Amino acid sequence: MLRWMCLLIALIPLVFVLPQATLAQDAEAPADSRAETGGATTLEDILRRQRGEDVDMEFRRENIGDAEAGAATTDQLGTLGGASDPELWRALRFGEADITSQVRSPGATLLVQDSGMAWLEFREGPLSKWGGYFLLGVLGFLALFFLLRGRIRIGAGRSGFTIVRFKFVERFAHWLLAGSFILLGVTGLITLFGRKGLIPFIGHDAYSTLATLSKWVHNNVSWAFMLALVMVFFLWVIHNIPNRLDLVWFAKGGGIIGSGHPPAKKFNAGQKIIFWSVIILGGSISASGLALLFPFELNMFAATFEKMRAFGITELPFYGPVPEALTPHSEMMHAQAWHAIVSFILMGIIIAHIYIGSLGMEGAYDAMGSGEVDLNWAKEHHSLWVEEMESSGLAEERPTGATPAE
Ligand code: HEM
Repeated sequence: MLRWMCLLIALIPLVFVLPQATLAQDAEAPADSRAETGGATTLEDILRRQRGEDVDMEFRRENIGDAEAGAATTDQLGTLGGASDPELWRALRFGEADITSQVRSPGATLLVQDSGMAWLEFREGPLSKWGGYFLLGVLGFLALFFLLRGRIRIGAGRSGFTIVRFKFVERFAHWLLAGSFILLGVTGLITLFGRKGLIPFIGHDAYSTLATLSKWVHNNVSWAFMLALVMVFFLWVIHNIPNRLDLVWFAKGGGIIGSGHPPAKKFNAGQKIIFWSVIILGGSISASGLALLFPFELNMFAATFEKMRAFGITELPFYGPVPEALTPHSEMMHAQAWHAIVSFILMGIIIAHIYIGSLGMEGAYDAMGSGEVDLNWAKEHHSLWVEEMESSGLAEERPTGATPAE
């Protein structure tokens, strides 16, 4: 009993004194005056950060290294004589401190990583949100297009004869590219959306297994994608050089809208766009993927920004000022963001490609399935290519279903 009474008596000051202390703090809190905090973070700064708003950090970055501006040794905060602990931490945070380390790995001298939260918020916020909306938008657009336009038919019907369109090596390269890209896309999306999109449904344990498997597949299948990309480039680049015919093709809307298909050689202008998108965006995804696969080894963004600045580009839309230097970790975060953004764009393009190569157009799939297309399909979509093949004696035409020997 005595013990309880003692405890109650001990709590009395807490009950009366604490709220008053808090009230006093509130009353005394400086409005928004940096001068009142001696040039340090103000209450308003802290509140802005808690509300997730931008806080101008420049005043802190500039507040480093000036011994004169520091507190005198006789002051409460002047124990280090001019410099102070907060100053050292500020210098660490803004990469201004002179640090040496026995650890030889890249980034070992970076003790405070300042930009991680901004990257995390971008990845979980705009990147996931707009990336997801974009893919859903492409699917919605294609569904609408299918409803309005229906399947693009072979105008003259099937001829009963086929012509060889892609050799085995071409189909092998295509399916290696397609298979690896689909696996990379699916495992990449699992990694990006898993925390919010899968854990609530399948739980942490199952997701942990799935995420580990996804990471393994993603890291290893990337090599197949890069190999296929190189194969496809060398196999088809000659047929994808832009020419004047492409302008006619665009002027006629590619024949998808309206009737009649503009003349084309082996690849029409639409396919050339697919080809160069795959090569350029796929190449860029591969480069940023390699930077992620070998952390801190490939510092592409610092080099790119340096070149941009040399050309006088100091500001980028949606990004802001082009930085003069990047920390190793910031380099990695740029690689991740770029990898994901470009992947979303290529996924959107490829979804449209898959649609037109299968459901969207009668007779198209055979080109990559068996390698032989109906002669009427070939004449409608690639008239100049058929003429070329026939006049050069290379057209392997045979009745539908006949084996190559017949
Ligand atoms: C299941 C998925 C896919 C299907 C059904 C498909 C179908 C096709 C077909 C039928 C063609 C030949 C078109 C023609 O004869 O002119 C083709 C070509 C091509 N495919 Fe795919 N494809 C798929 C996935 C992919 C993926 C994932 C990529 C790249 C990442 C890709 C890249 C290409 C390229 C560069 C061409 C040559 C240019 C063109 O015809 O557009 N394909 N595809």
